[in-house]
Amino acid sequence: MLRYLNGGESHGKCLLAILEGVPAGLPLTPDTVNHDLARRQKGYGRGGRMRVEEDRVEFSCGVRHGRTLGNPIGLMILNKDWENWKEVMAVEPSSVPPAKVVTRPRPGHADLVGAIKYGHRDIRNVIEKASARETAIRVAVGGVAKAVLAQFGMRVVSYTTEIGGIVARKPDDPMEAYDRAETSEVRCPEKEAGARMVEQIRTAKHRGDTLGGVFEVVVTNPPIGLGSYAQWDRRLGARLAMAAMSIQAMKGVEIGMGFEAARRFGSEVHDDIYYEPGGAGFFRKTNNAGGLEGGITNGQPIVLRVAMKPISTLYNPKQSVDIETKEAFDATVERSDICTVPAAGVVGEAVIAFEMANAMMEKFGGDSLEEMKRNYDAYQASVRAF
Ligand SMILES: Cc1cc2nc3c(=O)[nH]c(=O)nc-3n(C[C@H](O)[C@H](O)[C@H](O)COP(=O)(O)O)c2cc1C
Repeated sequence: MLRYLNGGESHGKCLLAILEGVPAGLPLTPDTVNHDLARRQKGYGRGGRMRVEEDRVEFSCGVRHGRTLGNPIGLMILNKDWENWKEVMAVEPSSVPPAKVVTRPRPGHADLVGAIKYGHRDIRNVIEKASARETAIRVAVGGVAKAVLAQFGMRVVSYTTEIGGIVARKPDDPMEAYDRAETSEVRCPEKEAGARMVEQIRTAKHRGDTLGGVFEVVVTNPPIGLGSYAQWDRRLGARLAMAAMSIQAMKGVEIGMGFEAARRFGSEVHDDIYYEPGGAGFFRKTNNAGGLEGGITNGQPIVLRVAMKPISTLYNPKQSVDIETKEAFDATVERSDICTVPAAGVVGEAVIAFEMANAMMEKFGGDSLEEMKRNYDAYQASVRAF
């Protein structure tokens, strides 16, 4: 089983994770992960912070000479901005300069509820961990998970399908869509829709507003049989949905045909089963199920769409109340993103990759990659013979 914990404040020294359960012998270098960290920082609509940071992972333990040891893997990303926050974020006992104490909660953030829950009088104590800066370390963990999946011919990709009500056409081929999306500044596979999304973000910026949207995550080449119907918390669809919903600002998940299935007749929804002797074996011609039946992978690509709410911090002020004076004020912003759907897709890939790698570990186990591959090959032979 794979598991990890992460820590780190947005303007603290670093972000950290400790990841356990990765089999020994997996080829792994920082480059494997850094590519995705760079992808998370891009996208039209990002604010100033992304120009400050240039995320790079450091493996502080668990990797030797480019291969995993089977020990817990320590991952660390230094926050460059920490240099400017050393005083405010000091570990040593000291008082925060009064001007730096945050008493004004921003609507749409954890600010007010977090302060009440933990008894913080300085909302900075909430902001620092609730911030989506945390997604950088999750992308790093997801990068290791992707490396596990790649050993079994699996890939996890994403692209933007909607921003601020501009909807792209449904792509025929997810891999082709992904390749096109990687050249788009909003990570949209359809050029025209992408241009309109950029325009919509410009309009939002001009109005002092923000936007959300939808991205699709696709897992290619999963084996049949990951996840289970045997217990509620082993249903893979549920676990993938939880992973997606654990990302800051995500408000909905669809699998396969998703909510549209609720509006159709069953005959239009359920994928017919076919059989080709000596060739593909059991197969489907459609994938409305999004690769999952009964909480189990059916061998088709897994397809999820995830909805993100608009960024909470607005240049155009929202009404709020100071926690000390109880006076009303207009919540405004110094530095924030306008739209981060393109980056959120990269985070989506990471959290889904982690759950998929975990499901692979559960099914095929193994302390070493070699052992896991043996188990996988034997199982795939039995699937072909079924
Ligand atoms: C990649 C990414 C970047 C984000 N950047 C910002 C930002 O710059 N400003 C902001 O107000 N919210 C940003 N958010 C969203 C907030 O973190 C989120 O709205 C907040 O945590 C509350 O959402 P919740 O109620 O779903 O937790 C970002 C989210 C993601 C996934």
